[in-house]
Amino acid sequence: MFNNRVKISQLLTWEPAQQEVTVMGWVRTFRNNQFIALNDGSTNTNLQVVVELGKFDESLLKRITTSAALKIHGVVIPSLGKGQKLEVKATSIEILGDSDSEKYPLQPKKHSLEFLREIAHLRFRTNTFASVFRIRHSLAFAVHKFFHERGFLYLHTPIITASDAEGAGEMFRVTTLPFDNPPRNEDGSINFKEDFFGRSTNLTVSGQLEGELGATALGEIYTFGPTFRAENSNTTRHLAEFWMIEPEMAFSDLEDNMNLAEAFIKYIIRYAMEHNKEDIEFLAARLAEEEKQLPADKRSDMGLVEKLEFVVNNDFERITYTEAIDILLQSTPYKKKKFQYEVKWGVDMQSEHERYLVEKHFKKPVIVTNYPKEFKAFYMRLNDDNKTVAAMDILAPGIGEIVGGSQREERLSVLEARMKEMNIPAEELWWYLDTRRFGTVPHAGFGLGFERMVQFVTGMGNIRDVIAFPRAPKTAEF
Ligand code: 4AD
Ligand code: MG
Repeated sequence: MFNNRVKISQLLTWEPAQQEVTVMGWVRTFRNNQFIALNDGSTNTNLQVVVELGKFDESLLKRITTSAALKIHGVVIPSLGKGQKLEVKATSIEILGDSDSEKYPLQPKKHSLEFLREIAHLRFRTNTFASVFRIRHSLAFAVHKFFHERGFLYLHTPIITASDAEGAGEMFRVTTLPFDNPPRNEDGSINFKEDFFGRSTNLTVSGQLEGELGATALGEIYTFGPTFRAENSNTTRHLAEFWMIEPEMAFSDLEDNMNLAEAFIKYIIRYAMEHNKEDIEFLAARLAEEEKQLPADKRSDMGLVEKLEFVVNNDFERITYTEAIDILLQSTPYKKKKFQYEVKWGVDMQSEHERYLVEKHFKKPVIVTNYPKEFKAFYMRLNDDNKTVAAMDILAPGIGEIVGGSQREERLSVLEARMKEMNIPAEELWWYLDTRRFGTVPHAGFGLGFERMVQFVTGMGNIRDVIAFPRAPKTAEF
C-alpha cells in the first residue's frame, strides 16, 4: 500500500514529536552518507532524512543516488540543522527505483533553461519547473472557480472544426486522406468529400464562434481548452498549441467585457498569490538573480511579487486606439525615430509600441479599445463612426497582448456586409448567422492566452517554459 504516505509539504507543517511517518520521493542529494534531501514534488523545500551511521548496509547506502526513488519510514524529530524545523530519522529505507547518477542528466546545480528545454521530460524535477507547474495548476483551478462563482457554464467547444474563427487562415489541417495520392476533383483540386468528415477540417484556432452559440441561449459560458495556430512565429510569446480561456456573455457590451476581464485577471492572480506564496517567492528570487546579469536599463522597476501586488491593487488603464496612437506620436522614442515600425492611425501597433505604452508610459496593464476595423476580425461590432470596431486588447507589462476580445456584431445585415467585405464565406457559417436571425442580442467576450498569463505570474521570459511540452515551429519532441 502506498497511500499511507505523508506529503512533504504537509509534513513540514507538523510539530516534531516522535511521530512515525512514511514518506516517498526522489533523492536530490545525499551528503556524508548521512543526510538525504528528499523531494516529492509537493514543495521545493526538501525533507531532510537522517541516516544513522552504521544502521544500514553499505550496499543500500550506495544506491541512494541523485534521483533514486525512496520509500522511507521513520520518526519525526526536531532538527538541529539550520533552515529546517524538523527532520525524519529513518528506521527503514526501501529503494523503489534506482537511478544511475552517472547517466542522470540533471545534476544538483543550476542548469540553463535552454538546456532544460532539451530534456523537458525531466525538467519537472527542478525547483524552477516544479514551482511553475504548481502555479499553473492553481491558475487553472482559479479560472474555473471564478466563472463557476459567477454562474458561467463551462462549455466544451470542439477541437476539430470546419471553420476559421479568426479568419486568419493559420490552421493545421486534420485529414485521413493519403497525402501522397489524395482523391482529386476533375479540376485537380483535392476532393475533401472523400475525407473523414466529408469536408475540409482543421484544428480549432478559437472556441469563440461555438461559444457565442452557447451564450446566446445559456446566458454566460466560458471555454478553456487547447487552441492551435500554424503561424510561423518563433518568439517567446507564441506557441503552435496553447490554451485559451474564452468567456462569452449575452446581454453585454464592451464595458461589461472590460470589467469582466479585469476582475478575472485580478482574481486568478490573487488566488495564486494566496495559494502559491512560496513558489512565487522562489521564482521572484530567481528572477531577481537573473536580472542582475542585465544592464541597469533592462532591469524591471519592480520585483515579481511587487508587480503582482501592484496589478491586483490598481485599476487597469483604459484608452482607445486613437488615444494610444496620439500618445505614441508624442513619445520620445517616436520623436527620436527609435521605433522600427511606423506609427500612424490605421496601422496596427507592433510589440515595441505596446511595450512603450505599458512599460514606459502607463507602467500598468492597459486596455486598448476601438481599433480600426481593417485589422480586426469580422465578428467585432462596428462602431457608429463606421471606421472602428468595439474591440479590446489587454496589454500587460513584459508580456504584451494577453487578452483579445470584443463586443460582437449582433446586427445580421451589418455582419453579413462585413463578412462580404472580408471574404468570409457566409454559407459555411450559416449556423453562426442563425444566432443573429433568431433573437439576436448584444453580447461580448474575450480570449485570455493561458500561457501568457502563467508567464506573467511566474515571471518566466519564454512561453516554452510555462507549458509542459511546448509545440512550436520544428518543436514537438516530447
Ligand atoms: O486575440 P486572439 O487571436 O483572440 C481570439 O482568438 C478571440 N476569438 C478571442 C475571443 O474574443 N473569444 O487570441 C486571444 C489571446 C491573445 O490575446 C493571446 O493572449 C493568446 O490568445 N494567443 C496566443 N498565445 C500563445 N501563442 C499564440 N500563438 C497565441 N495566439 C494568441
Ligand atoms: Mg489578438
